[in-house]
Amino acid sequence: MTKELILRHLKENNDYISGEDLSRTLGISRSAVWKNVNALREDGYEIESVTNRGYRLASSGDALTCEEISSGLNAQGIGAHVFTFQEVDSTNEEAKRQGQTGAPHGSVFVAEVQTGGKGRLGRAWSSPPKTGVWFTILVRPEEAPDRISNITLLAGLSVCRAIRSLTGCSAEIKWPNDVVINGKKVCGILAEMAAEFDRVNYVVVGIGVNVNNDSFPEELSQKATSLRLETGRPISRVETLRRVLEEFGRLYDGFFSSDQTAMLEEYKKSCVSLNRRVSTVRNGQTLEGTAVDITLGGELAVRLDNGTMIAINSGEVSVQGIYGVS
Ligand code: BTN
Repeated sequence: MTKELILRHLKENNDYISGEDLSRTLGISRSAVWKNVNALREDGYEIESVTNRGYRLASSGDALTCEEISSGLNAQGIGAHVFTFQEVDSTNEEAKRQGQTGAPHGSVFVAEVQTGGKGRLGRAWSSPPKTGVWFTILVRPEEAPDRISNITLLAGLSVCRAIRSLTGCSAEIKWPNDVVINGKKVCGILAEMAAEFDRVNYVVVGIGVNVNNDSFPEELSQKATSLRLETGRPISRVETLRRVLEEFGRLYDGFFSSDQTAMLEEYKKSCVSLNRRVSTVRNGQTLEGTAVDITLGGELAVRLDNGTMIAINSGEVSVQGIYGVS
């Protein structure tokens, strides 16, 4: 609380405030002021200090704090409760723990670092500090589990919309929900659900966006990209997160009240997998064909080379021209 109060004073003053003034106004010692200023710096705020003048907030930097994320966030349901962590195992795991103990619908869990970031299909998701934005949205739909499957498509579309509006980049979706720019992955999404037979308890939608990475390890450089690499300039993680939450909220509002056709039509227009050669492995056999449609249930409809139509609902699908696949 003291930290937030100091931040508020620094924000309200464009000029320097002395440590003595802060200590008197807040009724704390000078060393407590100093400690809290350092804690704010660790959060990402750039605070100058000059002898005999005091402290001045030079810039909010790109601090992923509740204060920065929530201020100016135009989200009523989604993002109404934001929880931030310097470090956590995985924001999906944290969201599930809090989901069990009653965290409200629309809660968002954000971490600077994930020590055990999880990807789809049991893979790990690298989540270093100060580069990307790693977060999970928890929703509590009052619906049967079979109505939820398209929520991963909804999440992909919200990231796509957010990236386009923020950066102007032509973000697209590789089915089901990788977001790609120029054929390279910029965002991954992992949704998990806790449900009974006929009722959803909660769904957690984990989203990782590569924002300010300036390079990737050799083995990923053909497959992965970041907003900074695509635009040539640093991009605000806070603004990226806010826009995704807003777009997610907009799409979620109509998700159960409509038949999802409009959402699916927009998804299809953004889906880079359609009308391309694709391949997948089923029961140890490689199947090849052309992706032709997305079904109402969110599956990828593929016309195999022997003319058979199949619908793929999970697993890995390689798409020609994406992630360096030839
Ligand atoms: C994938 O493409 O394989 C999905 C990656 C999902 C990563 C995000 S980062 C925030 C959330 N927490 C996790 O542990 N995973 C998701």
